[in-house]
Amino acid sequence: MLVLGIESTCDETASAVVNNGTTILSNIISSQIELHQKYGGVVPELACRRHVDVIIPVIDEALKEANKQLSDIDLIAVAYGPGLIGALLIGLNTAKALSLALNKPFIGINHTEAHLYAAIMSYPHPVTFPCIGAVLSGGHTSLVLIKEIGQYELISQTVDDAVGEAFDKVAKMLDLPYPGGPQIEELAKKGDAKRFNFKSGFVKGHPLDFSFSGLKTAVLYALKGQNIQNENIVVISEELKQDISASFQQAALTDIVHKALAAATKYQCKTLIFGGGVTNNRRLRTLFDEARQEFTYIWPSMELTLDNAAMIAGLAYHQFIRKGHGDSLDLEPLARIPFTH
Ligand code: KG4
Ligand code: ZN
Repeated sequence: MLVLGIESTCDETASAVVNNGTTILSNIISSQIELHQKYGGVVPELACRRHVDVIIPVIDEALKEANKQLSDIDLIAVAYGPGLIGALLIGLNTAKALSLALNKPFIGINHTEAHLYAAIMSYPHPVTFPCIGAVLSGGHTSLVLIKEIGQYELISQTVDDAVGEAFDKVAKMLDLPYPGGPQIEELAKKGDAKRFNFKSGFVKGHPLDFSFSGLKTAVLYALKGQNIQNENIVVISEELKQDISASFQQAALTDIVHKALAAATKYQCKTLIFGGGVTNNRRLRTLFDEARQEFTYIWPSMELTLDNAAMIAGLAYHQFIRKGHGDSLDLEPLARIPFTH
């Protein structure tokens, strides 16, 4: 089954052609990073306009690279949430229009769920369920029990910022360009992770939940001292940037390692599956490898860590087979989708 995937949840316009859920024939991503960089974050209105401009060329490119025509496609898949409503509408309406024009089924896919599927489709062996899924992105930080593809139980989530969001906000404090994750990872390589004793939050009564807002404030104090109201630009030396990056990264990532492994132990799972932009971080992967050897860790391949449409098309194959039909054309975009099925 040849699936055309479309992704426009945030600041990437993407399209991909995937065969039978795993064979990626093309995976085209048009990133808007340069458009939003000068604002220090994604500006929804600008993101929507750019999606409108590039979505058709991106789909054309995906078909061309796969050496396929629209008439070869069996199913149109699109991320219908979670994300920015305006941005979602563009992908969703494009998918509906294609579905109508081609008389082919279309299916709406949960973007967060697809991030976890990105790891499954990168893995060359069958996955043993149940396993623990860790979604670590700019918009989400959650642990889920994956009973099988499409069947999840939410275990825990962040009570404030997502981990990628914390990376981005700390990067902003350090005057680094958006998105901050890769910048912090790079600076951290040269920094002293022990210089600041930062800690991620503990949520009373919910030990597997995440909290990164206190950690973010601790970074601010380390930068400005107690004089936190100081609006003046604080001059930050390169060495301080490196040490703060290393100490912050260590605190955020070790927290994820501890909680994910605690969840695996609690739910007696031997396999952990990871998804979302923060899985791009090499240090995170190393920390898991160092932590415990008896678990199997399944990571998305590097080209599937960030937002992409291959994961949307891949997951759609399973969803379509499970449901036995596509979605109706009145499917609405959703800014938030709870992680329960
Ligand atoms: O999954 P994604 O592309 O978008 C969402 O669905 O949110 O994730 C983007 C997030 C951003 O917050 C970005 O800073 C973070 O992933 N990120 C990283 C790294 N690369 C991207 N965080 C830490 N280390 C990285 N190398
Ligand atoms: Zn994403």
